[in-house]
Amino acid sequence: MSTILSAVAWPYANGPRHLGHVAGFGVPSDVFSRYMRMAGHDVLMVSGSDEHGTPILVLADKAGVTPQEFVDTNHAIIASELADLGCSYDLYTRTTTVNHEQVVQELFTRCLDNGYFIVQSQLVALEPSTGRTLPDRYIEGTCPICGYTEARGDQCDNCGNQLEPSDLIDPRSKVTGATPNFTETEHWFLDLPALADALREWLEGREASGTWRPNVIKFSLNILDEIRPRAMTRDIDWGIPLPGELATRYPDKRLYVWFDAVIGYLSASIEWARRLGDDDRWRTWWNDPEALSYYFMGKDNITFHSQIWPAELLAYAGRGAKGGEPGEFGVLNLPTEVVSSEYLTMEGKQFSTSRSVVILIRDVLDRYGPDAIRYFICAAGPENQDSNFTWAEFVQRNNSELVAGWGNLVNRAGAMVAKNFGEIPQPGPLEPVDEAVRAATLTAFDTVGDLLGKQRVKAAIAEAMRAVGDVNKYVADTEPFRLKGEGERERLATVLHTLVQCVSDLNTILAPFLPHASNRVHAFLGGEGEFMPMPRIEDVHGLDSDSDRTYPIITGDYSATPRWESRPVVVGTPIAKPTGVFAKLDESVVDEELARLEQA
Ligand code: MF3
Ligand code: ZN
Repeated sequence: MSTILSAVAWPYANGPRHLGHVAGFGVPSDVFSRYMRMAGHDVLMVSGSDEHGTPILVLADKAGVTPQEFVDTNHAIIASELADLGCSYDLYTRTTTVNHEQVVQELFTRCLDNGYFIVQSQLVALEPSTGRTLPDRYIEGTCPICGYTEARGDQCDNCGNQLEPSDLIDPRSKVTGATPNFTETEHWFLDLPALADALREWLEGREASGTWRPNVIKFSLNILDEIRPRAMTRDIDWGIPLPGELATRYPDKRLYVWFDAVIGYLSASIEWARRLGDDDRWRTWWNDPEALSYYFMGKDNITFHSQIWPAELLAYAGRGAKGGEPGEFGVLNLPTEVVSSEYLTMEGKQFSTSRSVVILIRDVLDRYGPDAIRYFICAAGPENQDSNFTWAEFVQRNNSELVAGWGNLVNRAGAMVAKNFGEIPQPGPLEPVDEAVRAATLTAFDTVGDLLGKQRVKAAIAEAMRAVGDVNKYVADTEPFRLKGEGERERLATVLHTLVQCVSDLNTILAPFLPHASNRVHAFLGGEGEFMPMPRIEDVHGLDSDSDRTYPIITGDYSATPRWESRPVVVGTPIAKPTGVFAKLDESVVDEELARLEQA
C-alpha cells in the first residue's frame, strides 16, 4: 500500500468551467484517485480555486464588483460543478483563505532566508490609457526566440519558452491594441539558476524512471537550458502580500499568482488535516520520502509543475547551490509524476468563452448527466494528443458504446434474471464457455488496473469496454433467451448466474470512470447503499477568522470505497427488471447543440 497525493490543478476562479477545463485534468485525476483508493492506497486528493492574479482583477473591475466578491461567486459555481461531476476531492478549497496566505508566506520567508531570492529591478508594462500594470498574458508580440507573432508576455505557446513582457518584439496590449509603456520597478526574483542543478538531478531521476509521458519529460528537461531568475512579485493590489515588515515597506506589491497557486497543494493538505483536528496528518503525504505524488494539469501548466513548484520546494529545503535549512514544514516531497494532458478543441475550434465556442459543464450536467460526459472524456479526451470534441461523436459514443455496449448488457442480464427466476439463481456445473468469460473478466481487473495505475485512462477504458464486449459475446454464444425447455433450466441458471457475476465485476471495473452509473447498477444487483462514495459540498467557516462568513468546499468520506476485486454475487438476491440505468440520446441532440452554438 502506498501513500498517494493526488494533486489536481487549481481552476482559475474567473467563471464557470467548460469542457476543456475538466477534460484535461478534472476527470482523469478523479478516475486515477478513485482507482488508487480501490487498489488499497492511502489517497489524499486536493485542489481548489485559483483566485488571485491580474486577470481576475481585470474581470472583477469589468463586472463592477470587488475581486473578493467576484471570486466568491465563481468559487461557489466551480465547486458545485466539480462536485456534481463526481470529482472525489478530500478537499477542494480556495486560495483566498488565511491558512493559504500563512503557508505561502512561510515558504516565501524561508526561501528568502535561504538566499534563493534576488531583488532586481524589472521593466513592467503599463496600459497607456489607464497607467495600470498590464498583466503579462495580456500583452502580445513576436517571440524573440522563435519569431512566433502571437507570443504572450508570460510564455510563447509556439516554442514553449518562458518570456517577460519586455522580451517581446512589437509588444501590444491585448485589451486595447496599444503599445504598452514600460517602467522600472523592484521585484523579488526566484534564483532559478541556483536551483538548476538540483532540478536537473531530480528530473534526470524522473526520466530514468521512464514513467513520465515522453512530451512532458522532454519539455521539462529542455526548459532547464533557458533557466533564469523569475520575478515572484507583482505591482498589484490583489494577491498575497509580502510577509512581515516587507509588506509595510512595499504595500503595493503582491506575490505572483503562480508563486502562490502551486503552494495550494501543500496549504490544502494542511487545511485538510486541520479541519480533521489532526494538525500534522498532512505530513504523511509530504515528508515521508516513500510517499508518491501525482500532479494533474493541462500542458500550459507544465513549466509551473516541473520547474517553478519543485524549485520552490528545493529552495525551501535549502537544497540548491546556496544551501540553507528547511523551515517548519520540513523537507517536502518533489512531484513523483507530472501528468499533463494536451488540448481539447471543440468542433475543430479552440475553446473560448469570449467567442462562445464553449460547452459549459453545468449545461452538460443538466442535460446529459455526469457519466455520459465522463465517458466521452475518458474514451476520447486529450490524454496524449490534442483531441476534438464534436456533438456527433459525443452522441455516437454515448449511444453505441455506453448505452448499446454496457447499458444494454446490464438491461438484458437484469431482464432475463427477473423474468426467469426473479432472483440470482443457483448455478449448475460450469462449462468451458462459462469459465472462459469469467476468466476474461477477472483478467480485466489486472489489465485495466495496471493501465489506471499508470494514468493511462484512455487505454484503460478501452480495455474495460473490450471486457464488456466479451460478455456481450458470451450472451450471443450461449443464447440464454433460447434456453426454454424444462431440461434446460439448470443450464439457464448457470448462464444467468455467470452473466450476473460478470456484470457485477464489470461494474467494479467501470466504477472509477462511471461512479454514478456504478451506484445505479449496484442497486439493481441488490446492493445496499452507495457503491462508489460521492463528494459533497459543505459550507465552512475560515479556519483562522472569527467572521460569520462561510464558503463552500468539496470534501467527502471515501473510506467505504470498494476494493478492486471480484465480489461473489449472492444466490437468492432478488432482481427486478432494471430501468433507466443509461439513457440513449436522440440524434436531434446534435442539431440542437450546434444551433445553440450558432445562437450564442
Ligand atoms: N489556474 C491555473 C490554470 O488554470 C492552474 C493553476 S495550478 C496550480 O491554468 F498549480 F497553480 F495550482
Ligand atoms: Zn517562441
